[in-house]
Amino acid sequence: MSIAELARAELRALQPYRAAQQVESTIRLNANEAPWSSCADRFRRPLNRYPEIRPGSLAQALGAYFACDPSRLLVTRGTSEAIDLLIRAFCREGIDNIVTTTPTFSMYGHYATVQGAAQRTVETLPEDDFEIDVDAVLEACDEKTRLIFICSPNNPTGTLVSRPALLDLLARRGDRSAIVVDEAYIEFSGEPSAVELLDRHPNLVVLRTLSKALAFAGARCGTVMGPVEVIRILNAIQAPYAMSTPVVECVEDALRSSVIDEAQGRIAEIMAERERLMTAMTSFHFVETVWPSAANFFLLRVDKGDAVIRRARDNGILLRDFGDSLPNCVRVTVGSEAENDRLLELFAEIDRGKS
Ligand SMILES: Cc1ncc(COP(=O)(O)O)c(C=O)c1O
Repeated sequence: MSIAELARAELRALQPYRAAQQVESTIRLNANEAPWSSCADRFRRPLNRYPEIRPGSLAQALGAYFACDPSRLLVTRGTSEAIDLLIRAFCREGIDNIVTTTPTFSMYGHYATVQGAAQRTVETLPEDDFEIDVDAVLEACDEKTRLIFICSPNNPTGTLVSRPALLDLLARRGDRSAIVVDEAYIEFSGEPSAVELLDRHPNLVVLRTLSKALAFAGARCGTVMGPVEVIRILNAIQAPYAMSTPVVECVEDALRSSVIDEAQGRIAEIMAERERLMTAMTSFHFVETVWPSAANFFLLRVDKGDAVIRRARDNGILLRDFGDSLPNCVRVTVGSEAENDRLLELFAEIDRGKS
């Protein structure tokens, strides 16, 4: 059975919105567009015209970049939109559920709530470096579990799910749920993407984004990749013209080889800075634990987390805390070398007890 059959029946039958035809060198009186271009229009394609309903050239370019056939890929407004689309497509309100680990990215639970789906959580433990327990994930599932979200590297812990653990989960859950691997931070791990498993694992869906390693968070562009039938359903429910002309042109530029080459160099710098920061952190007395990380951030446990966050804020540095869900834990995003130096100076002051 295809996992597409787990999707809501009414959506499996839904046809995509029929957009007005767009044909070059014609007089276009079929889409209620303005016939003139604004003097504020600075783009390669005229903004008085709607963009393509789905950006074909972008799907090609992203497919080439992520090594995925474009027929198995939908371009989305960040992976956030992909998470929302998946939950809306698969979960019936008040009936179905998603399974996630905890702590993890809060958007899975957020969109489950929006859709009226339950979230079942499987705790990962600090003393195990937040490693995922596949048996526990499988035990948390029932016959109404439509989606299992695996965030790897995980936000906020930085934990990478090992390939054997992922393969085990894919094999043992089979076609009873879609296994969604969110790889927002995979470039910082040095490990291969699960995209290469798509051919052999029809229950796998992979999310990738341009927001992190490629430095295009402001453009809002990501992709969901999976079985063709699943992509067809997501395509039918995504808003028409979801990717605006400015975004399409910006992402076309982002995928030029020189820009990708630049990003590769920056990824290596961020990984080196991550190691420098993490090593330095272990020398501070008030830093109790530094967890391993495969992402562009890492998680610390400190003495008096609130005070550290406040002190950083007072010095113009924003760090992230997670309240009672991870007491005294602080997530640090790896910044530029100069920004990281500032953070280390401040931590050295805190360590010396200077107020
Ligand atoms: C694990 C994870 N997935 C997805 C996202 C959303 O990324 P995007 O900017 O592609 O919507 C984030 C953002 O922080 C994230 O941490």
